[in-house]
Amino acid sequence: MTRSKSILVTGGAGYIGSPLVRLLLNNNYNVITLDNLMFGGETILGVWHHPNFRFVHGDINNPDDIKTVFDEYKIDAVVHLAAIVGDPACSRFSEMAHKTNWEGSVNLVEQSIENNVERFIFASTCSNYGKMSDPESYVTESSPLSPVSLYAELKVKFENFILNEIDQSTSFCPTALRFATVYGVSPRVRFDLTVNEFTKELAMGRSLEVFGKDFWRPYCHVYDFARAMLLVLKREKEKVAYNVFNVGSTEENYQKQMLIDEIKEQIPHAKVRYIQKNEDPRDYRVNFDKIKNELGFEITQRVADGIKEIKYLIDHKVLLNPDDPKYKNV
Ligand SMILES: NC(=O)c1ccc[n+]([C@@H]2O[C@H](COP(=O)([O-])OP(=O)(O)OC[C@H]3O[C@@H](n4cnc5c(N)ncnc54)[C@H](O)[C@@H]3O)[C@@H](O)[C@H]2O)c1
Repeated sequence: MTRSKSILVTGGAGYIGSPLVRLLLNNNYNVITLDNLMFGGETILGVWHHPNFRFVHGDINNPDDIKTVFDEYKIDAVVHLAAIVGDPACSRFSEMAHKTNWEGSVNLVEQSIENNVERFIFASTCSNYGKMSDPESYVTESSPLSPVSLYAELKVKFENFILNEIDQSTSFCPTALRFATVYGVSPRVRFDLTVNEFTKELAMGRSLEVFGKDFWRPYCHVYDFARAMLLVLKREKEKVAYNVFNVGSTEENYQKQMLIDEIKEQIPHAKVRYIQKNEDPRDYRVNFDKIKNELGFEITQRVADGIKEIKYLIDHKVLLNPDDPKYKNV
């Protein structure tokens, strides 16, 4: 009988990590989660007793914590999600962002190579594209990157490191996934992301002020990200090694006003005021043909589905206090 593969998920207690951990366990992988639990560890309680789940409380910025994992487990693949996440968090905690999103991440790669890890998936972001030069066009994986925040700068720098700066003669197989902006319910739901935040506020009967209503951005459901990472783990190395893919769907690019229109379909009395204050310099529409054509990835959820489930969560009081700061990264 072949041994089940063991996957190290850094940041496995987080918004994207917690559904990924469950999907991997359901697909017969052994999962080792390394997380320093910045937002608590309730998200892993549901898998605590799963025979193939292990939790290591540790910090990727501490090389010994990473070493402990590699000493204890034979790791076949690493999915690297642990980070200081988002523009506001990185600008507020810039020193920690440099450490985690660059230094600690480089150390993780080096130890992964030393320990003969085969696959390495890095959670990058479509924020790397910054502002589109031609507002009518769609950016692809080969478009120039023009990060406009420390968060995206560090993502670009680390992507460049894993794709271009390491010795490619080993069996190490790194892949960068540029995620769209995520939405949807997860064991660690976040309400500092556009679709989730707008829906939550309006479902709670509050009025909303929206700036930059014309700005484009692509969106993708958190569960579809987990599916994309599983797919990359399973596809032939030649297709994914030293490669980069946008993750999402070309049909799922929206202007903020379009998101509000979608929410109003489900919350007709929603009160929204648009503010003329174009302070967010990110504005991009993204093409997702590459992951569809080369890996066969299709999304299963659309923004309207995410709005529906967040509204349901709020309406049925699944969360005791949706305003709890733990649902935000800053
Ligand atoms: N949410 C999005 O829209 C989005 C979009 C593109 C890319 N990403 C990327 O996906 C990844 C996961 O994002 P998320 O939304 O799940 O964020 P999250 O903040 O919910 O999860 C991050 C997890 O990493 C852990 N962590 C942070 N620093 C750590 C450290 N030094 N050592 C160990 N663990 C640490 C945190 O405790 C948390 O559990 C990140 O790399 C993020 O940049 C997210």
